[in-house]
Amino acid sequence: MYQVIARKFRPQRFEDVIGQGHVTEILKNAIDMDRLPHAFIFSGPRGVGKTSVARILAKAINCEKGLASTPCNACRVCEDITASRAVDVFEIDAASHTGVDNIRDLIENSRYAPSTARFKTFIIDEVHMLSRNAFNALLKTLEEPPEHVIFIMATTELAKVPVTVLSRCQRYDFRRIPVEEIIAHLTSIASRENIRINPDALMIIALQADGGMRDAQGMLEHVAATGAEFIDVETVDNMLGMVGRATMHDLLSSVLSKDVPAVLDVISRVYQYGQDLGQLYRSLMESMRNMMVLKAGYTNLALPQEEKSFLLEAIRDVAFEELHRILSVLIHSEEDLKYTSVPKVTLETILLRIVAAPDLSDMQKLIQALSGKQVPAQARQTVQIPAAEKVKKPLSTLPHSWEGFVAFLKDHDHPLYAMLTSTNRMSEEEDAVVLACQSSFIAEQIKKALPEINKKAFTFFQKDFRIQIEIIDSQDQNAKRQRPSEVRAQVMKSPVVKEIVAEFNGVVKDVKPNE
Ligand SMILES: Nc1ncnc2c1ncn2[C@@H]1O[C@H](COP(=O)(O)OP(=O)(O)OP(=O)(O)O)[C@@H](O)[C@H]1O
Ligand SMILES: [Mg+2]
Ligand SMILES: [Zn+2]
Repeated sequence: MYQVIARKFRPQRFEDVIGQGHVTEILKNAIDMDRLPHAFIFSGPRGVGKTSVARILAKAINCEKGLASTPCNACRVCEDITASRAVDVFEIDAASHTGVDNIRDLIENSRYAPSTARFKTFIIDEVHMLSRNAFNALLKTLEEPPEHVIFIMATTELAKVPVTVLSRCQRYDFRRIPVEEIIAHLTSIASRENIRINPDALMIIALQADGGMRDAQGMLEHVAATGAEFIDVETVDNMLGMVGRATMHDLLSSVLSKDVPAVLDVISRVYQYGQDLGQLYRSLMESMRNMMVLKAGYTNLALPQEEKSFLLEAIRDVAFEELHRILSVLIHSEEDLKYTSVPKVTLETILLRIVAAPDLSDMQKLIQALSGKQVPAQARQTVQIPAAEKVKKPLSTLPHSWEGFVAFLKDHDHPLYAMLTSTNRMSEEEDAVVLACQSSFIAEQIKKALPEINKKAFTFFQKDFRIQIEIIDSQDQNAKRQRPSEVRAQVMKSPVVKEIVAEFNGVVKDVKPNE
């Protein structure tokens, strides 16, 4: 099915190849000046035109009308190459012919002059898949190629091709095709194929194709096959298994406004509908990235206009640093989501860490918090992030304290680490710690994870460790239960306080619990 558009619209002249002008111009010159090397290598991502250009090149050098940068596409040789049945043009898929025997056959064959074409032309696709012996055999021929032989090799993984081979080839690097050019091409295909599609929907396809024309065409074909009279954004979202735009917007808004129930609600909804949480996460990263870039003042983003308006509106009152912080957490936590057996819990934990954390971009709030003024609870939590944040040390050098353990978790179990940084340590003994947690949700998660935490604690402390969790309603109660000396000790340990003291070259005179 999807072959149809891809094949029907395979470029047949260099001029028809989109987005690879830097390659086709040089090739055309080389042909017109009759300066042909015996071996070419085309590298680049999947579906950007390597095989297509290899075939055009084969035609250009073998066309019966004469060697010309524009093959006639009508003579016997041209037609045979288009139909993959030319007797002197061999297409070998190295992925399924990796062995040295295949290459020996090819080399044997290359000795004989071509029967109808000008050159014996070997197109070797996915050449990086050849075995070492196969490469060695090929190398001998590349070193002294017969006059009538031309090799055109293509690969998606240039780094796997031995340098000895590369140094015998003229190299051409194909690029990802720019989104605008993909959109323009799809638009013209859609009109020729009578596919009616919303421009935003087309743009979503082009973005998703990530520079590959084949993928873009495949997706267009796929949505067209749904038989819809008119293809809208929703049809495309569904086809891509993407979380709908409305849902994505809900999630973005609730994350930026730090609305915990709303965040949990969106996750549940997506989960309930059986949609892929990994996909949700990738879309979230993509959107956060776009927001950050917009905030930095770069508005030339290839995005549907409505989407751009939404993002601009959403970030109006959000600082760049905050967007940057959120994206950093998302990037660093992606692994956690990949390897977890409980994706929903992990996603909730990651997002709650983002949402519950203080807005570091607002120094004013921190200073107020430290001077004991009345500020929102969120900002107050700042001073209680365990001092382990920046520690990345081998096990042996970490202090055998609760902070040491938390630092240890940062490297050994990031989800647990994330959970524990949302708690306050109430008291610590040799082998026990009492943690206070403001959110019953996080307390639940930690309780569920206790066996795992205990296991990790045993590894770290080399003895059993008791962990007790309390849920407290507010920060204030927490403060009252602590002795002033404890509060002071805790505040002084906070990396934020240290940073501020250093920044302003100050001293902490007094630490008062909030009334
Ligand atoms: N640059 C391009 N311009 C126009 N169409 C393209 C281009 N690249 C790919 N296509 C479309 O995608 C189809 C597949 O492209 P092609 O086989 O040339 O890609 P490729 O780079 O060889 O991919 P692979 O690495 O997967 O072999 C073509 O038939 C054509 O329809
Ligand atoms: Mg190919
Ligand atoms: Zn021809």
